[in-house]
Amino acid sequence: MKVKAFLAVLAASCCFIAGSFAQESNDELIERIKPVGSVNVAGAAPAGAVASGPRTGKEIYDGACTACHGVGVLGAPKLQNAADWQPRLDEKGFDQVWKNAISGINAMPAMGTCGDCTEDDIKAAIEYMIEGI
Ligand code: HEC
Repeated sequence: MKVKAFLAVLAASCCFIAGSFAQESNDELIERIKPVGSVNVAGAAPAGAVASGPRTGKEIYDGACTACHGVGVLGAPKLQNAADWQPRLDEKGFDQVWKNAISGINAMPAMGTCGDCTEDDIKAAIEYMIEGI
């Protein structure tokens, strides 16, 4: 009898412990998937994209703009090169330069070929390109 009772207590505590572990990992799982869910609800990320928060200007530049603006393909103003950028900024002002990048100008394609960029992403990329000039 005594052994049986002991086994019953053992079994109960075993399941209780296992149960609390299961509960804990569910909570952890919910915690882990939560940020992805909220980004998708906000529509900020394309379906299936990994939630990584807003991209920096440098990340956008490295992904979409460097191909031309790195070395100055077709006369593209080069990264953080004052001689290339300052005359444009003086002549048109930042907002016009930004608008031209959105709609395209001469050999500069609209949105700089960045298909999933917002207008603010383009702005951040330009701010990075003219940083420190
Ligand atoms: C296919 C090459 C190419 C890519 C890719 C490209 N650009 Fe350009 N970009 C150009 C060229 C060429 C010019 C110069 C256009 C001119 O003034 O004749 C230019 C000019 C610009 C200007 C100056 C516009 C003005 O009014 O003076 C901005 C701002 C700019 N690009 C932003 C970007 C950004 C931001 C990206 C990436 C998201 C990007 N570009 C990607 C080729 C490119």
